[in-house]
Amino acid sequence: MSDIESVLNETRVFPPSTEFASHANVPSLSAYQELCRQAQTDYTGFWKKQADEHILWHKPFTNVLDETTPPFFKWFDDGELNVSFNCLDRHLATQPDKAAIIFEADDGAVIHLNYRDLHTQVCQFANGLRSRGIKKGDCVVIYMPMRIEAVVAMQACARIGAIHSVVFGGFSAKSLHERIVDAGAVAVITADEQTRGGKNNPLKATVDSAIALGGADSVKSVIVYQHSGNKVPFDATKDIWWHTLITGQLSECEPEWVNAEHPLFTLYTSGSTGKPKGVQHSSAGYLLGTMVSMKWIFDYQANDVFWCTADVGWITGHSYVAYGPLAMGATQVIFEGVPTYPDAGRFWKIIQDHKVTTFYTAPTAIRSLIKLGPDLPEQYDLSSLRLLGSVGEPINPEAWMWYYQKIGQSRCPIVDTWWQTETGSHMIAPTPGAVALKPGSCTFPLPGIEMAVVDEAGDEVDNGKGGFLVIKRPFPSQIRTLWGDPERFKKAYFPEEIGRGKYYLAGDSAYRDNDGYFWIMGRIDDVLNVSGHRLGTMEIESALVASPLVAEAAVVGRPHEIKGESVVAFVVLKNDRPEGEEAIKIINELRNWVAKEIGPIAKPEEIRFGDNLPKTRSGKIMRRLLRTLAKGETITQDTSTLENPAILEQLK
Ligand code: PRX
Repeated sequence: MSDIESVLNETRVFPPSTEFASHANVPSLSAYQELCRQAQTDYTGFWKKQADEHILWHKPFTNVLDETTPPFFKWFDDGELNVSFNCLDRHLATQPDKAAIIFEADDGAVIHLNYRDLHTQVCQFANGLRSRGIKKGDCVVIYMPMRIEAVVAMQACARIGAIHSVVFGGFSAKSLHERIVDAGAVAVITADEQTRGGKNNPLKATVDSAIALGGADSVKSVIVYQHSGNKVPFDATKDIWWHTLITGQLSECEPEWVNAEHPLFTLYTSGSTGKPKGVQHSSAGYLLGTMVSMKWIFDYQANDVFWCTADVGWITGHSYVAYGPLAMGATQVIFEGVPTYPDAGRFWKIIQDHKVTTFYTAPTAIRSLIKLGPDLPEQYDLSSLRLLGSVGEPINPEAWMWYYQKIGQSRCPIVDTWWQTETGSHMIAPTPGAVALKPGSCTFPLPGIEMAVVDEAGDEVDNGKGGFLVIKRPFPSQIRTLWGDPERFKKAYFPEEIGRGKYYLAGDSAYRDNDGYFWIMGRIDDVLNVSGHRLGTMEIESALVASPLVAEAAVVGRPHEIKGESVVAFVVLKNDRPEGEEAIKIINELRNWVAKEIGPIAKPEEIRFGDNLPKTRSGKIMRRLLRTLAKGETITQDTSTLENPAILEQLK
């Protein structure tokens, strides 16, 4: 790792304006430093105070942090609460009429839903779930369009103590099947179809295909929300319409009080093997992480209109759509569609129409919107905005500057938030009233989060030197384990080889500059980041090799102007290497195959055929060389250990 050196040389600095700082929750650098100091001096005392202040406890906790069986840490573990109660009921006395959700459908129709009505919907649906025998500890898979009902489904699970596992609506039947079986789900909540960009895509039919793959006998109910109204297959022994389920259900539902450590949800994400990992989160610690980050990083104010564009299928849509904003009592926008439909001004129009104050999106969306309409934002009134956010991958300084100038009109700070599915909430991000911004840097850790850049031995490296990004102490919102696989959890995140198992290994490389700012350099494992989504190269390879045509496959990432990274596959077929028309036909077949096996997001952008792959004498594929070839660069690395150097010429 020592040879990772910074390639960025960004010198622009943007201090917070006096105007912004004067209203901010953390109004100065010294206020931020004071919070950090409190956390350093009395770590558990600091988190105890936050948990007391932010969470409504049914039974107060006395234990703060239990570190007796590392890395299986417990927080607040003799306390009891209900997360849905914390997101909804707490607002009923104070602000029942405040809009919780402003929903904009793909076709532009708008629904305002206040906290009272959201509470009613959640309670009725939760009672409906109970009527199907679903109870505390059961796992429920949610495969829904990005609509109010997705949030209702998640909140209803939380209310009865069921553990949800949301699967992104773009995943294939095969991926959905894998997740249903791994979780042992007792129910699947879905819709007939989802609508995005004017097109309907099947969901219910995909659920049926997934279940038909076998081994999913645990699923006793499939609850179907009627959205498009188009006819879908329906099997009354198992399937039930959402509207039938809630008919006659009471609008009150006694929450299930659960232990602080009770799993709130699992969410599958990619790792460096072929099998996705079920990241398991807790109830109280997770909720606390989303709340303090809403306050410190999104600088939440009561009159904000908050909009996080992420789908609930990803962690961002869990923490900053389904839980964080509701727990804070915010008004938030939920959008069903895509940023480019009916045109590339859609996001800017939504900001204008709903007077969005806080806008949180991904660099890939920003880059594609720059490309499609660099001056389009000028046609909209964006004066309601006061804060912008970025997540999912490093934001390149050019995109940062455009976002800052064209969207934020040089008035709004940008919070570049580094975190992961596993961390549950922001880890490194600027407190916007306190920290001067540098385009491309996520700046400093949140108070109470101890981040470092270390070498293999776990020793901190000097500023300016690259290394492994680690988290030195347990924190409330962190992953508790991998569903059903504690050994893999330990090996993947607390490996002996790096840092001697002492620290949480993020899987990213990073460095700190001379001012101590953190700069993320990318993944150190076989994980790609395509349009802000994590994809394991092994997963795509397994999918390719599952095709009857393919003998062997290797997948690498290649830098991509808009997506950040794109997928390039090197494939050896069982038959002879195809050429011309035949090659094009097979390429299309294989791309569609991957879409079917995993989902369209995993489709390789390019597929190259070879008679073999570059391997060492011991048979290991040399991906390093493939990465160079994929970029179209000349190989300068040492190839003397290669068994078959001639193959490089062919793959070029
Ligand atoms: O590589 C980092 C990158 O996304 C990874 C986490 O992916 P995922 O679990 O899907 O969660 C994405 C949304 C939180 C990280 O290991 N990443 C995320 N945010 C940033 C980032 N890289 C650089 N800068 C960021 N702000």
